[in-house]
Amino acid sequence: MELVIIGSGYVGLVAACCLAHSGHKVITVEKNIGKLEKLQRGVLPIYEEGLEELFRQGVNSSRLFFSEDLRDVLPGVDFIMIAVGTPSLADGRVDLAQVYEVAQTISETADHPLVVVMKSTVPPGTGKYLIERFFSKACVPIRYVSNPEFLREGKAVWDWYHPDRIVVGSDDPVTAEEVLELYSDIDAPKVTMDVTSAEMVKYASNAFLATKISFINEVANLCELVGADIKLVASAVGMDKRIGPHFLQAGLGYGGSCFPKDTKGLDYISSFNGYSFNLLKAVIEVNSKQRILAVRKLHKEIGNLAGKKIAVLGLAFKPGTDDVREAPALDIIKYLVDEGAAVAATDPLALKNAYPLLPSCVKLSADPYEVLVGAQAFLLATEWPQLVNLDWERVKRLMREPFLVVDGRNALDARRLVGLGYRYCGFGRPGNF
Ligand SMILES: NC(=O)c1ccc[n+]([C@@H]2O[C@H](COP(=O)([O-])OP(=O)(O)OC[C@H]3O[C@@H](n4cnc5c(N)ncnc54)[C@H](O)[C@@H]3O)[C@@H](O)[C@H]2O)c1
Repeated sequence: MELVIIGSGYVGLVAACCLAHSGHKVITVEKNIGKLEKLQRGVLPIYEEGLEELFRQGVNSSRLFFSEDLRDVLPGVDFIMIAVGTPSLADGRVDLAQVYEVAQTISETADHPLVVVMKSTVPPGTGKYLIERFFSKACVPIRYVSNPEFLREGKAVWDWYHPDRIVVGSDDPVTAEEVLELYSDIDAPKVTMDVTSAEMVKYASNAFLATKISFINEVANLCELVGADIKLVASAVGMDKRIGPHFLQAGLGYGGSCFPKDTKGLDYISSFNGYSFNLLKAVIEVNSKQRILAVRKLHKEIGNLAGKKIAVLGLAFKPGTDDVREAPALDIIKYLVDEGAAVAATDPLALKNAYPLLPSCVKLSADPYEVLVGAQAFLLATEWPQLVNLDWERVKRLMREPFLVVDGRNALDARRLVGLGYRYCGFGRPGNF
């Protein structure tokens, strides 16, 4: 098959490299000239485990191409996949400007029948609207399919080949089958449904996972009050097969490019339809409070933060990615700077992305030991294995009293750290290690 993928972000590039690897001819269209030039020079603009190799293979086998303009690459194309951003507006609404722009270009330029596949996360009802406003007005038949993407950043290539399910929403079973053919080499349940239901599957999935995270954070906060240990509680709760062990790690809460915007987006859609999704509202509120809780813990342990040196370990919203969108660390650093703290931060991959988003007074270094020099406290914000497994004896020699550890991911060996003379403070954990 021959495909065009519009948007070379995390989703677009992973889809492009993987589909090229499966033998399809793929042309990605990217409007960000900096990104496009990198791609054309053979440089991947993002980090994803395993992507570099597929990218090289795709380019070397002449199955993967990059272009700036859809009009140049349209002839002969069977499918156009849309993988542009759908960020949040200030009021939580989903900003569909990029989607509308692309839909308009497609409907104006399409010169032969083709299938548009929506990979971007768009609110339920968007597909119907796009068909009515744009695709039905094209001078050739354009069929529309919703094909939401569930991949996790950091594990995106693995997830592409091992999805829990592939969801295709179409009002025409023949078109749905044609799109499923793109995934014929992937062994996963393939589920077809109408467009609006497929759009809702994506939002409901992310909202549910976010709910698990906020739920366990609420339980953790209660654990602190009653003297229980959330690590033990969550581990045993997760053994129940009806619940499962995933997304039950208490701490700073979720971030990233999906959960925050998709939960807020679903809340907005609910309100817009006259429905108050109270559970979801609580999930969002709990998540934002966890970040403030980290600052409160620092306050409680070392008092006024003005003039105190605090190191932040980890800036990416989770390990394995250079993505800092809605990363808890960024918010927390801003609070700390507002309080007058001297902040130094490190991350194995995300320094470049974080740099423009942080106050200029924050010292950044790729060397975690350097940021810990003279720190009275550190916050582990992202549980990168290399940060979890620092040489803690060396770190102790670099830090200053009271050697406070705020473990924002409950990922450190509390007993060992306390044994070494640190003051350990996790989320939902008793102090007596
Ligand atoms: N990142 C994830 O883990 C993930 C997972 C599942 C679904 N999604 C959804 O997939 C979509 C894309 O997410 P992302 O993280 O890849 O976004 P992104 O912001 O990293 O990438 C989007 C890209 O589209 C490009 N673009 C925008 N308009 C364009 C146009 N008119 N022509 C050409 N290129 C254009 C942008 O320049 C950007 O490079 C979003 O709707 C997101 O919610 C993301």
